[in-house]
Amino acid sequence: MARITWGLATSHVPSIGAAMDNHKTEDPYWKPLFDGYETARKWMAEHQPDVAVIVYNDHANAIDMDLVPSFAIGTADSYDVADEGWGPRPVPPVIGAPQLSEHMVRELVDDSFDITTCNRLDVDHGLTVPLSVYCPDPGDAWPCAVIPVLVNVIQYPQPTAARCYALGQAIGRAIRSFPQDLKVAVFGTGGMSHQLAGARAGLINERFDRMFLDAIEHRPETLTALSREDYIAEAGSEGIELIMWLVMRGAMSDSIARVHDTYHVPASNTAAALALFEDLGDREGAMA
Ligand code: DHB
Ligand code: FE
Repeated sequence: MARITWGLATSHVPSIGAAMDNHKTEDPYWKPLFDGYETARKWMAEHQPDVAVIVYNDHANAIDMDLVPSFAIGTADSYDVADEGWGPRPVPPVIGAPQLSEHMVRELVDDSFDITTCNRLDVDHGLTVPLSVYCPDPGDAWPCAVIPVLVNVIQYPQPTAARCYALGQAIGRAIRSFPQDLKVAVFGTGGMSHQLAGARAGLINERFDRMFLDAIEHRPETLTALSREDYIAEAGSEGIELIMWLVMRGAMSDSIARVHDTYHVPASNTAAALALFEDLGDREGAMA
């Protein structure tokens, strides 16, 4: 059976990808951020998954405001790389895992999550930057297949934090019921506190960020109790991306161990963090 081996929460700030693409990771501005990734990257390289389920939001690159699914999942064989700003990143195409995708769609619908299916999808920095955080030097190909899971964090009303956690739990059940022996990593992307425009542009709320970083391990229910308005008030208009970390946490079992975390301000206008958890409950031989 498929099992979830680890979960990674990471910011997806586009300039983190641009720093890697333009060989600036040793510059004084960027070095502290990338130094903070080292321990996690080494551990992940030693624990390669077969498939990464990456929970992210599109930033109007694949899905414009004509169509805003609350939750969607990619079912394609592969996904082209797209982006605004600097344009598509010079990274390999993203290879899908369509059989697991289709299994997840069916299981989620049967589990009362009527998720939107994306048979074709371009993926932007929300997905490619986390892949680069995991694997900085992919060469010609990423080391694992990818299943994109999209969450609307752009347009009101975004799904609640509680619903995101419940979606994660349903994703976890769907993955664990897939008959093939696959190691699956789940990524929750975005955050931490940031606001890109308006009177509060540049908002950083370190107290809230550190509370969230701590609580997501053993007290996720304190985070699912917060409303979307709470997230925006505390973490800024784009800080609500943090609800996607709760999808990752929901997919993991109750028994997890923190491998590493790091928190750094600023990356662009944003508080950037990484938190890596091993799933102990899904370990081979462990009780389900
Ligand atoms: C920035 C952060 C984001 O999450 C994003 O999607 C775009 C830009 C930023 O801080 O620059
Ligand atoms: Fe974003």
